[in-house]
Amino acid sequence: MTPLKTVQKILQGQSRRSALEKSEAFAPINIALIKYWGKRDVGLNLPETDSLSLTFPEWGTTTQLSPSDVTSLEINGIPTDLDTPLGQRLQEFLALFELEVPLAIRTYSNIPIGAGVASSASGFAALVLAMEKLCGWDLDPQSRSILARLGSGSACRSFWRGLVLWKRGTRPDGLDSHGVPLSLQIPNLCTGFLLLHQKPKKISSRSGMRRTQETSPYYPMWSEIVRQDLSTFLQGLLQQDFQKMGQVVERNAWSLHRLLETATPALSYTTAETIAAIQKVFDLRQQGVLLYWTQDAGPNIKLLFQREHQGVVQRAFPGLLLSDP
Ligand code: PMV
Repeated sequence: MTPLKTVQKILQGQSRRSALEKSEAFAPINIALIKYWGKRDVGLNLPETDSLSLTFPEWGTTTQLSPSDVTSLEINGIPTDLDTPLGQRLQEFLALFELEVPLAIRTYSNIPIGAGVASSASGFAALVLAMEKLCGWDLDPQSRSILARLGSGSACRSFWRGLVLWKRGTRPDGLDSHGVPLSLQIPNLCTGFLLLHQKPKKISSRSGMRRTQETSPYYPMWSEIVRQDLSTFLQGLLQQDFQKMGQVVERNAWSLHRLLETATPALSYTTAETIAAIQKVFDLRQQGVLLYWTQDAGPNIKLLFQREHQGVVQRAFPGLLLSDP
């Protein structure tokens, strides 16, 4: 199955004409607690493993669409060339939808773009929601999730609040690979991210994944690592054991970043500031604060802690951008 056929199947019978003069939609970012890294199908963005995320509902992307003579893109008020890698990726994605008119696209994100804080997840999810409104489609969340996955894998987890599982699925057409919201949540959870660097990363997660899969001698272990970490996390969730969940979230992030270092050439998204922030987490934990970190394809750090520790964590990390999941 090709991405085009997937979209045709999901949008069967739905109009490709704009029903409105303008539409607008917001989608939040989601941060992986158990990471997705590597694909079983590159074209369809089907993952090698399941993954699990937490939505940061206040942070994300608002996208406005209006029919136009030519396709155009504006990001945070700045006209953006469609010949850039981001513009091309967007055009390829839009082409899958076979809309009858070109679109003027305006996106606004309250997080930095391409810095490893999941801007592509909120971006592709918001775009799907805005197209759905513009054309008057009637989709279920699962179908939206599959459509957004074709733009960026992790975008399929951005349609729900709280914890979301992205199932790897087994079907070659990927129609069983989408987000599924969990009903259980982490009690008294506070989260936040530390923006240590705002510049776009040099190696995209897309090419980083490919390089790791093709060259790391340890990549074959990744599926088993994720299977065990996810199972430990879900046990912790059932037992409402914050420490168990926090420890395995950190272990999964360590495993991912060590795995990246074993690719050729080696990959690292970590900077001295990342390490210093992690050290501070360790120091606070020694003082009895249950605080855990995770890191994605960028140097920025996300923190998980319990509400009673919010004051002490904010004092230790003054620039922390909080989120209430
Ligand atoms: O969906 P992508 O291609 O942006 O990849 C996301 C990769 C990680 O953020 C590192 C992990 C994840 O599960 O979100």
